[in-house]
Parts: sequence; C-alpha cells; structure tokens
Amino acid sequence: MKGLILSGGAGTRLRPLTHTRAKQLVPIANKPVLFYGIEDMAAAGITEIAIVVGDTHQEIRDAVGTGERFGVSVTYIHQEAPLGLAHCVLIARDFLGDDCFVMYLGDNMLEQGLAGFVAQFEQQRKQDSRLATDSRALDDSQPSTDCRAGRCRAQILLAPVGNPSSFGVAEIGPDGDVVNLVEKPRDPPSNLALVGVYIFDASIHEAVRAIEPSARGELEITDAIHWLIRTGHRVDHRILEGWWIDTGKKDPLLECNRLVLDTITRQVDGMVDDTSRVEGRVVVAEGVRIVSSTVRGPVVIGAGSRIENTFIGPYTSIGANCVITDSELDHSVVLDGSHVIGINRITDSLIGQHVRVVRSPDHRSAARLLLGDHSQVEWE
Ligand code: DAU
Repeated sequence: MKGLILSGGAGTRLRPLTHTRAKQLVPIANKPVLFYGIEDMAAAGITEIAIVVGDTHQEIRDAVGTGERFGVSVTYIHQEAPLGLAHCVLIARDFLGDDCFVMYLGDNMLEQGLAGFVAQFEQQRKQDSRLATDSRALDDSQPSTDCRAGRCRAQILLAPVGNPSSFGVAEIGPDGDVVNLVEKPRDPPSNLALVGVYIFDASIHEAVRAIEPSARGELEITDAIHWLIRTGHRVDHRILEGWWIDTGKKDPLLECNRLVLDTITRQVDGMVDDTSRVEGRVVVAEGVRIVSSTVRGPVVIGAGSRIENTFIGPYTSIGANCVITDSELDHSVVLDGSHVIGINRITDSLIGQHVRVVRSPDHRSAARLLLGDHSQVEWE
C-alpha cells in the first residue's frame, strides 16, 4: 500500500495566512496539519509516500524533507495548477504504479487512525479473493469488466455533517450500497459527506482518465468514484468514528486545535517564575520564560517565547519566539514570532507569523491598522 497526500491547491479560505504559507503547514497544537497525516500513514505501515505540491512546494519540501524523521520516504510530485483531486491521481500514475494506495487530503484531520481503515480494506480484498468463484471478476488486468460482487476497488469514508453542500456527498441505496456521489451539491441527497481519506486500487486510473472537468473546472475525485460505481466496480464505504475536520477555514481550524489540545499531557521544560501559575495540561517548550502570568491549560507554548504579566486561557497554542505581555487571550492560535502587547482580551483568533498586535501608547480611542489583503478584524 502506498500513500498519496495532496498539498497543492490555493488555500483561498485561509487568506491572508495562505498568501505567504501553505495551508497544510498551518499548525494545530504547534504541529503542521500535514505532519499529522504523514504520521498517521507511518502508523498504518505506509512508508512510500508521494506529496502533491503546487506553488508552495518549497515551503513543504523544507518542512517535510525526505520523510526520514517520520520513518517514511517522501517523493514530491509537482502540480502546475490546482486542477482537481482526480488530476493529482492522474499525475501520480508513475509513482503509484498498479499498487493500492491511500489518498489523504493534506488539510484534513481525523481522530480515528488510518490503520483500522487500511486493515479493513485489505481484509475485505482477501475475503473477496477467497469467495470468488468467477476468476474473471478478480482479474486485475480487466477492472472494467467487474460486477458488483467483484473485488472491492475503493473504500471511502463518510461522516454525517450539518452543511453537506460544502462537501462531496454520498447517497446510500436501500441495500446499503453507495448509489450516487455528487460534489458540493446545492440540493444534497443526504447529510453524508466524503471525508478526505480514500483507498483505491489501480481501477481508479481508468476512472480519472474517463471523467471530464466539473463546472468549477476541476477533475473531481468524487466524479471518478461515481464513475467506478456506474461502471460496475465495487466501492465500499465506512462511517467515520470520532471527529473529522477540514482545517481549511478559521473556525474549523480553531476547533481542531481545541480537540487536539484536549489530548496533550503536561510537560513544562521552560522557566516559570515564582509569581506565575501554570495550571493543568500545559506544554511549555524549552527556552520559554513565563513571568508574573497565569497559564490555564490545555495550552502549548513554543520554544523561545516570553509570556509576561499575562493570562493565557484554555485552548490556546502559542508558536515559537512569540512575546505576549500585559494581555489576556484564550481559544486562539498564534503563529511563530508574533507579539501581543497590552491587549485585553483576544479570543477565537488566528494570528499569523510575525504579526504585531500592540496597545497604542497615546490613549486615543482609535486603532491604527496595517492589515494584509483578506484580513479580518472583529471589533467590539
Ligand atoms: O475535506 C473533504 C472534502 O475535500 C470532500 O468532501 C470533497 O469531496 C473534496 O472535493 C474536497 O473538497 P475541498 O473543496 O475541501 O478540497 P480542497 O480544494 O480544499 O482541496 C483538498 C486538499 O487537496 C488541499 O490540501 C489542497 C489539495 N489540492 C486541491 C486541489 C483542488 C491539491 O493538491 N491539488 C488540487 O488540484
């Protein structure tokens, strides 16, 4: 089994952060989203991984490298433009060969590990082989002649959601099979969204060649899977256990940060002075200085940051080399190198790298702003 992680795309919904960085590298509990996917693959025994990269390829290569530190080997595949998820399969053909593979969207995060999902697929394929009486039905060289009782060709993961129109949506027939799949439908046939983790065998290559670009100009993987079903290939589905978040927007990203912080264990390596309190599950990296402050977990604080005369409340991730003084903040993510000085109070916020949020010294009740394109400020 190989792995294909998609980390190209434009990241328009996380602008302005994604003007300068890949959305797959935005941190959750101080670790890039993409790393969770790679680690999940490694834990499932997948060691040959290709990452599809676009304009932000250099940043992703710099962060992930050869994959050695994750115990995997990483190949990079360059996608000229975000032409769709099925286009990524098309350009990964040489890397994938005829192997089965897990395709993982680089901005998705799942509570449930991949290992069980992969094991189910492999077990199903073995069972199909044993049960087969018609050898033609399992002939991998002729995928398009399969019948519904043939070998399982793909496994998709579905999750009930409140806003199905924002996702690929599956319709399940009376006998429990997936009968229809549609990408971001205005009028969704069900509330079951396609989660961004799929397993395919080599039949998918014929499917991605057969489909046409959608109305938004992309080769949709949803259409390719639907093509498999329409042409008589068997596609199994599982309903996801645990949470799943597409981190490509601010509020889901904060929610994901909250869920991951809920799983951390306390480790305080930095310096906490006698007048400070560090309560509960808090990770304080080396080189951090906490002075006259209260930090109430779950919270992570990255290496080299300074927290002074400040309250940091639950579900906050502070990156490396930040300075937070005379402030109060909670339920927020602050990226590396940012300064928050004299601000009371920040909540539900996502602050990029090397940002300065400072109280003006001249006490006039006016704000002075220098905000990048697509920035968002909510004022009370
Ligand atoms: O999150 C689950 C949803 O992901 C599914 O329910 C949808 O069926 C599926 O189409 C996808 O929808 P999104 O609109 O959220 O996909 P997005 O454009 O955000 O791309 C997902 C990941 O794939 C992201 O890490 C960027 C990468 N990508 C995307 C495109 C279009 C590429 O690497 N190349 C591309 O051409």
